[in-house]
Amino acid sequence: MRKLFIILILALLASASALAQPYTITQNEIDRAAELVAQMTLDEKISLVAGIDDGFHTAPVERLGIPSVRMADGPQGVRNKTNSTYYPCGIGLAASFNREAAGGVGDGIGLDASARGVRIMLCPGVNIYRTALCGRNFEYYGEDPFLTSEIAVSYIKGIQQHRVMACIKHFAANSQEYQRHLTASIVDERTLNEIYFPAFRKAVEEADVATVMTCYNMLNGLHGAENAWLIKDNLRAWGFEGIIMSDWKSTYTSQGVLNSGLDLEMPLAFTMRPEMVKPLIENGVVPEANLDLMCRHILQSFIAYGLLDLPAQDESIPEDYDYSRQMAYNAAVEAPVLLTNNGLLPVKKGRIVVLGPNANTVAFGGGSGRMSPIPGRNITPLAGLQELGKKFKVQYIENSEFTDDERKAIEKADAVVVVAGFNHDTERENHDRTYSLPEGQNELIAAVSALNSRTVVVINSGGEVDITPFKDSVSAIIMAWYGGQEGGRALADIISGKVSPSGKLPFSFWGSYEKNPAAQYYGPIEPEIHKISPSRNPYPHTSYTEGIFVGYRGVERFCAEPMFPFGYGLSYTAFDYSDASIEPSADGCEVVFTVKNTGKMDAKESVQVYVAPQNPSVLRPAFELKGFDKKLIAKGASQEFRIKLPLSAFSYYDIESHSWKVDPGKYQILIGPSSGDIRLTVDWSI
Ligand code: BGC
Repeated sequence: MRKLFIILILALLASASALAQPYTITQNEIDRAAELVAQMTLDEKISLVAGIDDGFHTAPVERLGIPSVRMADGPQGVRNKTNSTYYPCGIGLAASFNREAAGGVGDGIGLDASARGVRIMLCPGVNIYRTALCGRNFEYYGEDPFLTSEIAVSYIKGIQQHRVMACIKHFAANSQEYQRHLTASIVDERTLNEIYFPAFRKAVEEADVATVMTCYNMLNGLHGAENAWLIKDNLRAWGFEGIIMSDWKSTYTSQGVLNSGLDLEMPLAFTMRPEMVKPLIENGVVPEANLDLMCRHILQSFIAYGLLDLPAQDESIPEDYDYSRQMAYNAAVEAPVLLTNNGLLPVKKGRIVVLGPNANTVAFGGGSGRMSPIPGRNITPLAGLQELGKKFKVQYIENSEFTDDERKAIEKADAVVVVAGFNHDTERENHDRTYSLPEGQNELIAAVSALNSRTVVVINSGGEVDITPFKDSVSAIIMAWYGGQEGGRALADIISGKVSPSGKLPFSFWGSYEKNPAAQYYGPIEPEIHKISPSRNPYPHTSYTEGIFVGYRGVERFCAEPMFPFGYGLSYTAFDYSDASIEPSADGCEVVFTVKNTGKMDAKESVQVYVAPQNPSVLRPAFELKGFDKKLIAKGASQEFRIKLPLSAFSYYDIESHSWKVDPGKYQILIGPSSGDIRLTVDWSI
């Protein structure tokens, strides 16, 4: 009771702070920053535009009261020299299809950062999922730009309400890790605008994101940090007034950086060393005004976030905070996707055997997203199941070679939970991963399911894996992503039926790697010219030839049926969709429909709304996600959903005019629980 009361108070305080004004840059901040820049020496200016010390601090200018600002990686919590709350990974937040849950994680991270004096959080990561292999898919939000944008906007607002700047990354088209410093992403203008830019643009326009990190890869010939087209013609043109920083060690030339529009070289000065910058300015090769602008962008952001006036650390916030833990659980319980279930789940009582490489650990993806959780706060799947109470007898088997006793136990169990998947070594930054589960895991699942078909396979991963070796011989498969410190508890609550699974796939699950149309264009492909004349093109290219037809957008175009469609996920209850209608609104229309929970338990449902142009003037995907919502619906009860579709939901990027256009004509609005299960259709004309 007392705990509930405290959580309620914390929630009230948090929602009060959610109403606080965002820390925006206005003319006042711009003027004050410009005045400071005018007082700075050339050396001071050069020092401000690169990181220092451990590579997670900006340089101070003490004479002018400019502090060194501490930053830390996300996106799963506050990393770098601290133990902190470990939240579910990005793909899990996307799978929740829940803006509130994503906002709650941002909220928790903002508080955790404030408590530690961290004022720039290097998250969220919003690169689009093309295939399962990208080693950082787990940090990102899947294949759909609309879902990605909405989740990112909520997450960023959650962080920034606490006077902590979010840094959206990696701008842009950084969808593979293999040879990430060298690879040139070749992407056409329409595809960039429709698929790879929207999350960045919405973060600028709707969340007022404070900082942006450029990408490692080259985009159409230039590295992100030195790509003036990317930075000035796009990002700044969207009205971005904040700080643009390089990814770590991704700058190459002083002139390139000084001219591209980048503001901050990270983690340290490489190209921004005084001996390199000074001659360029003193000899008039680069105008000093470029350096002044870089400094102004940095300072106006610092001023907007009170960094020149207020202490960096908020000591009133505990470093290990009940409220943050609650936010981690809220997202963790909505993230898992139930892929298959022959009726075994939920298991409401009985003997459960738990085993597998990730059963007694809290798995996480590796690289900069890896973090150090607070000791004693990690709830492993085993611990989560053990917490369930008297109705369950839980046995853990550590080894994959079973003793006779362990074999007797597996056979008699009411359910055997195999927690499989990847970890920080096998799925991580700077590497792409395998499509199959790591070595030995298919064999382990086969051995277990041969003894007892009441087997539940739980998979930790950032995307699709090859489930064909065991799909038909086990009773249920749960995609659990990396669930964070509360992931084990959330998983146990789902397995035991305390909560119905409500996660939906944020990518198309093809069922074989080759079936994904993007697979043939993924990864460095040897350019034709290189075959003829090897010395002419030494850089590996990855050409995004599937264009705008990424994921479910390619289903019709490439006649490729996924095994499980985008947006798919099973529940323990059933939902009936009815009574769709559409009403004009000030800016487009509003779709209204009813969903009834016809099953036997209260459960959440994510509804999805897709727009299908009927007579497009250009080639377009058959339909695209343009709205979603999620509500708890009590058993037997109905809920009305109202989804707004602004005019922009009907638009496409026109390469002739370099702008967004809406074709007059007929559209169908498709409503359902997934992209492969459309239950209601309404017509709309523009
Ligand atoms: C990653 C970034 C990260 C940075 C700092 C880089 O390797 O690509 O996402 O924020 O390191 O750790």
